[in-house]
Amino acid sequence: MIPLVIANWKMQLDDVSAVDTARRLVDTLPEGPEVVLCPSFTALVGVANVVRDSKIFLGAQDCAATKRGAYTGEVSPDDLIALGCQYVIIGHSERRQHCGETDAMIAQKVRAALSSGLRPILCVGETADEKRMGQREAVIDRQLRSALHGLSLVGSQQLAIAYEPVWAIGTQHAAKPEDAAQAHAYIVEIVRECVGTSSAQQLHVLYGGSVDPKNVRSFIDQPHVHGVLVGTASQTATRLRTLVAAI
Ligand code: PGA
Repeated sequence: MIPLVIANWKMQLDDVSAVDTARRLVDTLPEGPEVVLCPSFTALVGVANVVRDSKIFLGAQDCAATKRGAYTGEVSPDDLIALGCQYVIIGHSERRQHCGETDAMIAQKVRAALSSGLRPILCVGETADEKRMGQREAVIDRQLRSALHGLSLVGSQQLAIAYEPVWAIGTQHAAKPEDAAQAHAYIVEIVRECVGTSSAQQLHVLYGGSVDPKNVRSFIDQPHVHGVLVGTASQTATRLRTLVAAI
């Protein structure tokens, strides 16, 4: 399976910096992993123009739960496809935490994204409190089952899951690679139950949370770790290039 690297630029790069960073990456990224740049909505058009005809893929950081309608401020997954996106991050913990996204909303977004032809990267993971209370598996179980219940992947539809322990995001305290591998094995089992064995075979399970050029290899070397979702260490061309080279 080709490793997947999702660069989540969050709200950190303005339009000019995002386009400039993408320009520095085109033709200079090491071969191997599939790299997906996820800039802010406002930078998608600019970055799409830069990465078109290159090996770099484009993703959005969120999408609406429906394709059309009176939803002021929302962005349709159909429009993301039209712009050249192939991927969309759904249910990132920052959206769950700051934007009130619920499991039910996330389930709808996954379906809307898939039916528009986007590949959702569904984020799951426990908070520090939940970890302390030994609830990691229970949280992953709830988040996955509510998002995937009754889903069947048809045709070329594909899914990726990012295991992102909330306590590891932006903290420089990544999970232990062996712990991530355990969580990933659990995720694979649940996804298999929800969508069936053959769909689960094509599944990428990514680790996210303080991944950097130094630790990335230790995650990729684990069983069931098929890539990484990277925030901070993806936000300059030099760091992302170094990180991809280390895979
Ligand atoms: P980080 O962010 O790499 O800065 O921890 C990861 C994420 O939020 O997806």
